[in-house]
Amino acid sequence: METRESTHYPIRKATSADIAELIRMQRALQENTDAVRDNLLRPNPTGAGRLYAYYLDRIGDELTQLLIAHKAESKRAVGMGTGKIWVHADCLPSQSGELIDLWVDPEHRGRGVGRRIIEQLLQFFRAHEIQFLAVNYVNGNLAAESLWRKLGFEPALVTATADRLDVQRTLSVPSKRILSIAGRSWSAERSKAYEPITRSG
Ligand SMILES: CC(C)(COP(=O)(O)OP(=O)(O)OC[C@H]1O[C@@H](n2cnc3c(N)ncnc32)[C@H](O)[C@@H]1OP(=O)(O)O)[C@@H](O)C(=O)NCCC(=O)NCCS
Repeated sequence: METRESTHYPIRKATSADIAELIRMQRALQENTDAVRDNLLRPNPTGAGRLYAYYLDRIGDELTQLLIAHKAESKRAVGMGTGKIWVHADCLPSQSGELIDLWVDPEHRGRGVGRRIIEQLLQFFRAHEIQFLAVNYVNGNLAAESLWRKLGFEPALVTATADRLDVQRTLSVPSKRILSIAGRSWSAERSKAYEPITRSG
């Protein structure tokens, strides 16, 4: 059904002409993530050039659907979302669908764009008979938590991060003991080359 939002914000498959906008939104999404948490792995800025190749690859991949929402009159992108099908050789179910990098520019939020991108990704998964869906989002991202919960996603696997030194302190394990457990011969060989590591713990 055609709604006011669907005519104002058409959604279509991304093409190579959209890669600059995809990279802009990817960076904004990363900044958003950084603002929620600072104890996560993050892309190395020196590898940013590889994003172009990454998106080109995704756009050409039959098992990926990369969508763009844009403003009807200006053609400027305002949102994106990706659906990726994974084939598992040794797991059941043997295929799953992942929702990746959902983003809507802040000034266009709360108008159903995110929800419509997801709806379209679901059609892609349905066409490939994918039942099992997964999404990763940062703990503390309230909009994401609310959105995914409302759609029936339930947190099932936790990734917890820590600084090794903090864990060592908590365990009251001196760093030298950790090294000896890791293997005396290895550490003896390497201790000269990696002296700063052995000193700092
Ligand atoms: C999450 C995001 C994509 C939602 O886009 P949107 O176009 O504003 O979403 P919609 O208008 O379609 O709203 C869908 C649902 O999202 C939830 N939601 C959106 N913004 C929210 C907010 N600020 N607080 C709480 N819930 C929110 C609501 O459950 C809403 O359902 P409702 O309309 O029944 O209230 C957008 O806020 C965004 O880009 N956030 C930053 C990036 C991000 O967190 N991405 C998700 C990572 S997995």
